Parts: sequence; structure tokens; C-alpha cells
Amino acid sequence: MSSQPNSLADRDLRSVFHGQTHLSQLNEFGPMIMDHAEGIYIYDGAGKQYIEGVAGLWCTALGYGNEELAQVAYDQMKKLSYAHTFTGKGHEPSILLAEKLKEMLPIKNAKVFFGNSGSDANDTQIKLAWYYNNVTERPEKKKIISRVKGYHGITLAAGSLTGTPQSHVGFDLPLAGGRFLHTELPHFWRYGKQGESETEFATRMAESLESLIQREGADTIAAFIAEPIQGAGGVILPPKTYFEKVQRILKKHDILFIDDEVICAFGRTGNPFGADTYNLSPDSISLAKALTSAYQPLSAVVVKDEMYDAFLDASPEMGVFGHGYTYSGHPVACAVGLKTLEIYERDKLFEKAAGLAPQFQERLGRLADHPLVGESRGTGLIGAVELVSDKGSKAGFPVPGQMGAKIAKLSQEHGLIVRAIGDALAFCPPLIITSDQINEMFDKFEMAMAEGLEWASSEGMLNN
Ligand SMILES: Cc1ncc(COP(=O)(O)O)c(C=O)c1O
Repeated sequence: MSSQPNSLADRDLRSVFHGQTHLSQLNEFGPMIMDHAEGIYIYDGAGKQYIEGVAGLWCTALGYGNEELAQVAYDQMKKLSYAHTFTGKGHEPSILLAEKLKEMLPIKNAKVFFGNSGSDANDTQIKLAWYYNNVTERPEKKKIISRVKGYHGITLAAGSLTGTPQSHVGFDLPLAGGRFLHTELPHFWRYGKQGESETEFATRMAESLESLIQREGADTIAAFIAEPIQGAGGVILPPKTYFEKVQRILKKHDILFIDDEVICAFGRTGNPFGADTYNLSPDSISLAKALTSAYQPLSAVVVKDEMYDAFLDASPEMGVFGHGYTYSGHPVACAVGLKTLEIYERDKLFEKAAGLAPQFQERLGRLADHPLVGESRGTGLIGAVELVSDKGSKAGFPVPGQMGAKIAKLSQEHGLIVRAIGDALAFCPPLIITSDQINEMFDKFEMAMAEGLEWASSEGMLNN
């Protein structure tokens, strides 16, 4: 690695342990050190500008450098920098934010439990489902079903829900004990059979879920967790009628439906929540990321009153509800979250994002004609293109992920950050992006794709 001795890159390599990183490649190529950011643009240490095409990690919905959020954090730090929510203590920012979320979310009479990350929100979800079935005297009903390529976080339990091999290999996950099950990935373009319609495929996927439930025994299954759109698994949209059929099965077998909206919430899919876009009626919802536009780490689990009431009824016997974090309902994070939601509303950002979606999707859709693209997919302001070496057979590349990484690198050279998920390239820009900036983003990407195509043919990687 050739970074200057004692440069930030050099010091980073010597001291920082990077997660979700290929460690030996990092050693070889060095880190990319970011310096500052404004709006949808982020700048590296050399001053080079990049469009943040994935809103950081699908989170910076209001972009960077928002003065109002900085001010509200400053004011809250001065007024009450910290107060916890254990032993019945409370404070205004967490109350106001919980009230605001209840007003916005599709679960009526909800209760809101705060945490710090999407992973801990989903750990909380698992614990609540287990606790619920214990206090309702169904102690066998404990297994949780998630989906192949679902992404629900990375802590021991949430990582067990996650359905990507990288999250499991070497970490002894999923946790032993048979409580974590994965059902099929409902990706129609990839797994639809010859002559099968999208709705027939959705039926097959729902039937596959029901077979799993029957094999295991419905009285052993506590919950099913799903993202409305599988984001970090490659931006995979549910096939038409999928959730309608899945929800019917869950109801029939008395299985809780956990809606993981950590990416999809707050205007991303063209509606306030993914639940609105796909007509979901969940029992509980996980939120994080755009809840504060990533200005503070904050997550929320929103549960229906039926669950909370069961906890309350059991309380005299169970004693203290022994779950919660030091930073649950952190006043600064909650104040920033509340201001974030106020800005979304005041500036009509969900409506604006929905208004820009047709242009975004048109530019994304145009890429389907590119020789390297097998599928372009998306809705609202989220999408991806999946690269193939042969459009006809949908065959991938000799080294999976190599082409995706190449396009991400070329995009970066053109001043655009996109996320390579294997050979899919994901887009999820800040919601404040403008029409001109959408064009700027896709123009840069098209340049990268043209160069990538040249490279792939010169390397003899294409079959078509
Ligand atoms: C749908 C979903 N759930 C949970 C998580 C985990 O969130 P965190 O990284 O904040 O723990 C993510 C992260 O990308 C996510 O996309």
C-alpha cells in the first residue's frame, strides 16, 4: 500500500478496524478518507467531490450540512445532554418523537421503544416476540423466519436473521438452537421459471413459506420478518401480490409480522413508509437510518398495543421488563429525530421524492438496454442494476462481484459513489436530490458503464 507515511490513510490502516471490509484488499489498496460534505456531495481528503448515490448507508435523507439539525443538537446538548428512560424516567424529546411516530405510522395505538441502530432494533424485535409468547403461555412458539438475502443487521440475533452468507461465515451464525429459519428469496427476474407469471411466482414463494411453517409446526413459529424492499441484499422488490399472500398465511398461522423499515421508511419508496407502498399491516415496525437522517444514531421499534398490553398484564408476575439500553431515547438523538420528521413534513420531502421518482426510474430503466445489464429495478428513489455476462441466459461473471466492484470503482473516478452488492449496483440518493442532480448522477454512471463494458470485453468476460 502506497499511502504517505503518517498520512491519515496510513494512520487509519495502522489503527482502525474496518467492518464490512475485505481486510487484505484494504491493506493493499488503502482506505478512502472522507473529509467533509454538503447537500448530496461528499469530498475526500484531496478535495475530490462525489455524489453520495447511496445516501451514505441508505440513511442521509436530508443530505449533509443541515444547519437546523446541527442547531437542534446543540440546543438539546446544552439543555439536557443526557437522560435515560429506565426505571420510569422520561423527558420531552423522547415523548414528542414517540407521539410524532405514532401519528405517522400505520400501527394505531402503538408504543415506541428507542434504541441506537437497526441491528439493536431487530434484536429488540426478537426479544419482544419471545417475551410475548412466554407471557401469553406459548413457550414453544419461538422460531423466527426471515428470507435469504434479507438484511436485518449484524449483532448475534439480528445477524442470525440476516440471510447473506458473509454475515454468517466465520461468526458461527445463525445462532444454534434452530430458532432462525430462512425462506426463499422472492426475486422474480432471477428465480421465476420459464412461462411462470409474476403473480404465479409470488404464489409459489408464499406456498414455500407455508410449507416451511407446516414442516416446522406453526405452534413453533413466533414471527416472520421482512423488509418491504430487500435493500442491502441487492434492492430486490417483492413480486406483485407477494405480501398480500404472505400476510394471509401469517394471519392463518397466528405468526407475528415484523416490518423492517430501516431502509424503506420516510419517503424512500414513493410513500411515507414501505408499508404504504406494499399495503402491509405489520404487528411491529423497525426504524433507524432516515429517522434522524443519520445525524444521530437512533432506532425505534414500534409495537401494537396488543403486545404492550400483554407485557403490562404479565408485569406483576414477571417483575421489571429487563430490556433497554443506556442510550434508549437519548434526548439529543430524539430531538434531532423530531426535527428531521418536522423538516420532512414542512418541506413536503416525501411528496417531492415521489415527484422525482418517475425521472429517477426512467434513467434507471434506460440502463436495461446496456449490454452489461440483466435487470434494472426500483421504485421511488431506490433502485439497482444487476450486471450479467450474457443477457439471454442471465449468466453472471467468472468471479462473482468483480464486475460490480469494477463499475463502483469507475463510478468513483467519475465522482459518484454507488454501492456494489455482488454484481448489483445500488442507488439510494438523499431525498433532497434535485432533478438536475439525478441526471448528473446517471450521466456519471453511464460513463462508468461504458468504460466497464470496454474493460469487460477486453478481458474476454462477456458471452454475448
Ligand atoms: C433493513 C435493515 N435492517 C437493519 C439494518 C441494520 O442497521 P444497523 O447497521 O444500523 O445496525 C440495516 C442496515 O443496513 C437494514 O438495511
